[in-house]
Amino acid sequence: MARPADPPSDFASNYEGLLELAGRHARSWLASVPERSVPPRMGADEVADRLGRDLPEQGEPPAEVIDRLAEGVEPGLMAMGSPRFFGWVIGGTQPVALAADWLVSTWDQNTGLRTITPGVVAAEEIAGAWLLDLLGLPAGSEVGFVTGATVAQFTCMAAARDEVLRRAGWDVETQGMAGGPAIRFIVGEERHGTVDLAGRYLGLGTPIAVPADDDGRIRVDALRTTLAAGEGPAIVLLQAGNIHSGAFDDFAAAIEVAHEAGAWVHVDGAFGLWAAVSPRLRHLTGGLEQADSWSTDAHKTLNVPYDCGIAIVRHAQAMHRALSMHASYLQATEVGADPHEKVPELSRRARGVPTWAVLRSLGRVGVVRLVEGLADAAGGIAEGVGRLPGVDVLNDVVFTQVCIALDDDVATAELSERLWNEGEVLAMTSAWKGRTVVRFSVSNWGTDAAQVARTVAAVERALAGVRGAR
Ligand SMILES: Cc1ncc(COP(=O)(O)O)c(C=O)c1O
Repeated sequence: MARPADPPSDFASNYEGLLELAGRHARSWLASVPERSVPPRMGADEVADRLGRDLPEQGEPPAEVIDRLAEGVEPGLMAMGSPRFFGWVIGGTQPVALAADWLVSTWDQNTGLRTITPGVVAAEEIAGAWLLDLLGLPAGSEVGFVTGATVAQFTCMAAARDEVLRRAGWDVETQGMAGGPAIRFIVGEERHGTVDLAGRYLGLGTPIAVPADDDGRIRVDALRTTLAAGEGPAIVLLQAGNIHSGAFDDFAAAIEVAHEAGAWVHVDGAFGLWAAVSPRLRHLTGGLEQADSWSTDAHKTLNVPYDCGIAIVRHAQAMHRALSMHASYLQATEVGADPHEKVPELSRRARGVPTWAVLRSLGRVGVVRLVEGLADAAGGIAEGVGRLPGVDVLNDVVFTQVCIALDDDVATAELSERLWNEGEVLAMTSAWKGRTVVRFSVSNWGTDAAQVARTVAAVERALAGVRGAR
């Protein structure tokens, strides 16, 4: 076999100066994050003008490109890693995860095949086993690393679709959907919109929505009635962590009802699945381990950089039937499944490696502290902001979400706008329970008691502005 040619002697030096330059820009960005304005100060059109819209004929030296990029986009960057960013459940980045992510890009391993990229596959397999252990999910479940919770839901529901149709005597992988038994796709009224999206990708159509209680939990009595009203294959979607209230479905009861009806149960735990790691919060997820599949994000609660979602499926064969492909040129493993058989992509980056690094760095105790710290910060915001005159905290703050409202919707929207304009804190509006609300989603490892105090003070200033303007 011919040896690969030796790399040119300056192979590494081609990268070196550029990586140092990128490192300097990265350090300068990170140094600015805690105190800079959280929202961007420039829109996409202005940033595009700064970057230059014309494709250069001759190209530019790489260092100039990196300078142009870093300096050009900087005013248009949202400080999503700020400890006072509460806009959506985004999550910050743990330093060890960022460092590991740099290595992932540098190694550039296409992580589809176990025998071809064994280094990163080993790290991902260990991370997968640790996740099952930490989250209290059945050992031996399959774990796939995907781009986010939306695709994790899609991945799990592809396995669900395969299995429920197979039980009804229909092989969807060879026969397709047309002419097959209809699947009842049953969700809680307050599920996340991406659940519908995943169902749409799979041809499941509009879901049947079951009424929810005041905090957005699926009503188990109504789920029972819905299941009893029909027959045939069914997939039931439950939720760990409502985006407005943070509420968790009653898993033990709902899963029992769904399984009695022969349904596959999937749990969307994009950020809330992590409550299962904490002895203090675990009561919220009780019974969830009885489900058939679970989806979550490492880029949210675990604070790894974008992007990393996690699809976990109890029934390995269903997952492989739905997602695997084989070709003679691919060197398939003889041990278990290759990584590509657990995700929709054949080719992908080794996005599970930063998860391995965070888990290794924090250990079990550190992960518990991280998750409980987020919940404590949400509790602190609810308490501090809830004491301000005229502010209603609308949800029972059980996890990381806080929804507040003022006496009228216009004033509530103005509160959020004033926060944005000041730049110290970012918390966006949403609509919940027929009202405009301002939502605080705590998902950053840096949001400690001091950041909570700064947040409450910023809300107090914005509130004074709203009152003063009336
Ligand atoms: C409950 C829930 N499910 C699903 C998603 C989708 O996650 P992603 O944006 O990572 O695809 C989110 C995102 O915030 C979420 O909060």
